[in-house]
Amino acid sequence: MIITWAGDPAHQQTCTDRLARAFEQTMRRASGLLSARVHTSVDGARIVVDTQWERREAFDAWREAPEAQALFEQPGAAAEWDTRVYVRHSTHRPVRALHNEMVDRLVSQGFRGTPSIESALRTVPRHLFVPGVPLDVAYSQDVIVTRRGPDDLPVSSSSMPSIMALMLEQLDVRPGHHVLEIGAGTGYNAALLAVLAGSEGEVTTIDLDDTIVRDARDHLDAAGYARVRVLAGDGWLGAPQHAPYDRIEVTVGVSDLSPAWVAQLRDGGRLVAPLWLARGCELSVGFQKDGDRLRSVAVTECGFMRLRGPHAGAETFLNVRGWTVRMDAPDAARAAALEALLALEPRVEPAPPAPRGWHTRLLLEEPRALFLGRTQGSWWHAAHGILDTAVPPSLAFVTSRVWDHQLYTYGGTAARDALLERLATARSLHVQDLTIEVLPRTAPAPPDAIVLARPHYLYAIRERP
Ligand SMILES: C[S@@+](CC[C@H](N)C(=O)[O-])C[C@H]1O[C@@H](n2cnc3c(N)ncnc32)[C@H](O)[C@@H]1O
Repeated sequence: MIITWAGDPAHQQTCTDRLARAFEQTMRRASGLLSARVHTSVDGARIVVDTQWERREAFDAWREAPEAQALFEQPGAAAEWDTRVYVRHSTHRPVRALHNEMVDRLVSQGFRGTPSIESALRTVPRHLFVPGVPLDVAYSQDVIVTRRGPDDLPVSSSSMPSIMALMLEQLDVRPGHHVLEIGAGTGYNAALLAVLAGSEGEVTTIDLDDTIVRDARDHLDAAGYARVRVLAGDGWLGAPQHAPYDRIEVTVGVSDLSPAWVAQLRDGGRLVAPLWLARGCELSVGFQKDGDRLRSVAVTECGFMRLRGPHAGAETFLNVRGWTVRMDAPDAARAAALEALLALEPRVEPAPPAPRGWHTRLLLEEPRALFLGRTQGSWWHAAHGILDTAVPPSLAFVTSRVWDHQLYTYGGTAARDALLERLATARSLHVQDLTIEVLPRTAPAPPDAIVLARPHYLYAIRERP
């Protein structure tokens, strides 16, 4: 569970200590509580209480008891308790069983990776890369955020195993390959790459942040992957000293490819990157290099934190009234309109049926489109819609099917009308049917494609008939 801190920083330590003592006493009495650890998050903005329980029911019973209620009312500006998302409980099962179950679940959910990827996932123990995280969380399907920035947005994590597996499939690492990973994070994916590249191969991974690099190094050593090279630096520049690479995997979101990656990739080699295309539409694309161009060989949906550092570009996440909104470029007028509209009471109605992939088509084709997610929510707390700043301004969005699939309208009716018309005429879109070609900026824009011009390359997006 996590308490979001909104008080005097000097008082925070007192509150952390008091909570630690209270948990210590609770430990002696609560039935089924195996451990409790109270600490301040790395960014200092939150107090984190990690508890491990014998059974989920033990936690539920404790949560209702007066003793727990008293803990939740700790004085000292404990602004918000979030137990729903962050409760961690351990079933105390053997690591091996939990590890295999993680991969079994991926397979039963339709993971179509090669046997070598499945075997790598069964080989590398994820829990050694996220020390301090309870085992059942380490072997869940969840993204594990390991570091947050001052604005509370995640800056480092171990990605969802399902997206890691899909990206490895797109990358197609073979024994003997030289591989470069951008974004070492916990080091877990680098270890998977090392298994796939084998003892004849070479894996270099790079991260911007010295402490992340140190942790990744420690994790890789502890798990037996000392042969992975971990570098500190700006991954945007690649690692020319060890180039050329047969494979480059970018594990952080970008809106353009770095010319350094393209230069350091062998001709015919593969590069996989989470590409931010339009208005928050982000796809993991596996490209093959062909001279001065790259052509996609595989496309899948994904969601990644953004590249940081001097080549990050302008901030494109906007936090407004509990929502995180994705923008292609900072836009003060749209930001102000959103702030004002989201302060209003929405009109809520059931959303009309929508074909698969309608939201991707909306983001790619509609200039006023918008992608929003709940700031403190999970990946499924997402919505897609239209923000119309013409007077009177209006906002309308549809929440995801796995959330509640409702249509929300704020302000005037123009956005709702436009969204309903789009939904009524929408054709389904399977991102797997998209092809993306990366061309030099000087190439003529192909007339038969949606073309995005980014500082270094043109991106020609087509849909297979
Ligand atoms: C999603 S995490 C990577 C997950 C990682 N591959 C793993 O297996 O745990 C993204 C990482 O990219 C790093 N990053 C962000 N900008 C970077 C940059 N310019 N150069 C190198 N690393 C960067 C972050 O510090 C973060 O650790």
